[in-house]
Amino acid sequence: MKFKYDVLVIGAGIAGLHTVLNLEKDCDVLVLAKDYAWECNTFYAQGGVAVAVDEEDISYHIKDTLHAGAGLCDEGAVDILCHEGPQAIKEFIKHGFEFDKDRAGNLLYTKEAAHSRNRILHAGGDATGRYIHQFLMDKLKFPILYNTQVTDLLTEDSICYGVRVFHNNEIFNIYAKKIVIASGGVGSVYEYHTNARTISSDMQGICVAHNIPLRDMEMMQFHPTVFVEDDAVRKQLLSESLRGEGAKIVDEDGVRFLFDYDDRGELSPRNIVSQAIFDYKLKTNKKVFLDLNNFEEGFFMKRFPSIYFNMNNIGYNLPFDLIPISPAFHYAMGGIKSDLFGRVESVDSLYVVGEAANTRVHGANRLASNSLLEGFVFSKRVAQDIKLSLKEKKKNVDFDEIEPSLIKPSDKNLKNELRDLMWNSAGIIRHKKKLQVALGRVEEMLESPIGKLLRLRLLSSREIIKSALNRKESLGAHYIIKGDNI
Ligand code: SIN
Repeated sequence: MKFKYDVLVIGAGIAGLHTVLNLEKDCDVLVLAKDYAWECNTFYAQGGVAVAVDEEDISYHIKDTLHAGAGLCDEGAVDILCHEGPQAIKEFIKHGFEFDKDRAGNLLYTKEAAHSRNRILHAGGDATGRYIHQFLMDKLKFPILYNTQVTDLLTEDSICYGVRVFHNNEIFNIYAKKIVIASGGVGSVYEYHTNARTISSDMQGICVAHNIPLRDMEMMQFHPTVFVEDDAVRKQLLSESLRGEGAKIVDEDGVRFLFDYDDRGELSPRNIVSQAIFDYKLKTNKKVFLDLNNFEEGFFMKRFPSIYFNMNNIGYNLPFDLIPISPAFHYAMGGIKSDLFGRVESVDSLYVVGEAANTRVHGANRLASNSLLEGFVFSKRVAQDIKLSLKEKKKNVDFDEIEPSLIKPSDKNLKNELRDLMWNSAGIIRHKKKLQVALGRVEEMLESPIGKLLRLRLLSSREIIKSALNRKESLGAHYIIKGDNI
């Protein structure tokens, strides 16, 4: 195999594959996938792609995004997302992608919480991510190296030259003129999450080790309607579009208690619904359910085939059975700090895009279905910047190919302890004392004889905890309670 490329893309979800789709065919590109290509969050995305339905809607999309973001958004980033979104989607459709349409051939838009109008495009009903991913894979014109764990960035004098990887039981280096991190968020550091099994904050940890700044790491989003009562690592997401189309959240007595927390009830922003469910369960000790009785069976099977099938496999007869729900970790707003072309400001030749990135486009709380749109829009900007700068001269530097042990025997137990610690201390509701205890324990684990991969998770988790401790007041997804009552 070759060890030198023009562009190296770490991650095969929408952010990575759409970057690649926008690079020239004669560019020499390698995509790295940690597992099978479909083990990424894009593949499991259900709801859809939020996009302004017409010129007039752009300003409302901006307003909704800023409002959900609770004052922490970068307005320039939001402006780009909402203005450039429609064009990116138009181009994707021109490439041949088909979103769901009505019989007359008009695009179908659904609604999700905190959107002021129906603007969510979907495909295959609730299989939007899977359809997009399959399409991008079909269009891919460059090689992918599967089962490839990135173990380090090769940097010298604030320039990135490539990555060190573990593949086929070997450690080796791959060099490139431009390196794009598109590896997703941090799901596996939490006990309950909806993420692909590959999403474990490795690249964020590598950045911490290289003093590359992460930002807003306290901003972790918990999806309110997740089925967590089975043993699967990735918990079953029950798309927000179910509530957008009329599903209710009820307690075991049928009470729609969300209105006690927010007038918008089921259509309140995700953070409010998650925090309300968590709080209500704690206070009342009652179970909470998603009630789909508003749906007619035939329509439900056609509109939400994946949820129908997956839940049927676990023994639920939808839309008739109530589904027990819990919030679970879903999406990291915080990430590797970048500018609006995905450039990691402190390291030359290094880009970051998608969930791994923090442009502040989502602020303190991401508006539903804005993440696939972010993948479309910002990856185009990364590709554009790469095309402009690829001809610049870059010297050759060789790095050694030595890596400490990636895994040690005690890692498994510590990894499980970390998940539990993060869920209970840096989860939906935080408390200073618990965060301090968690920080102490993470520091202890970092001092113990552990493998490098666990070290990377711990470094990322430490950033989440430290950022949560630094933000003293609740904001968006960061909900901190005061007093000793925990
Ligand atoms: C969902 O379908 O509820 C997920 C959409 C999102 O996370 O944006």
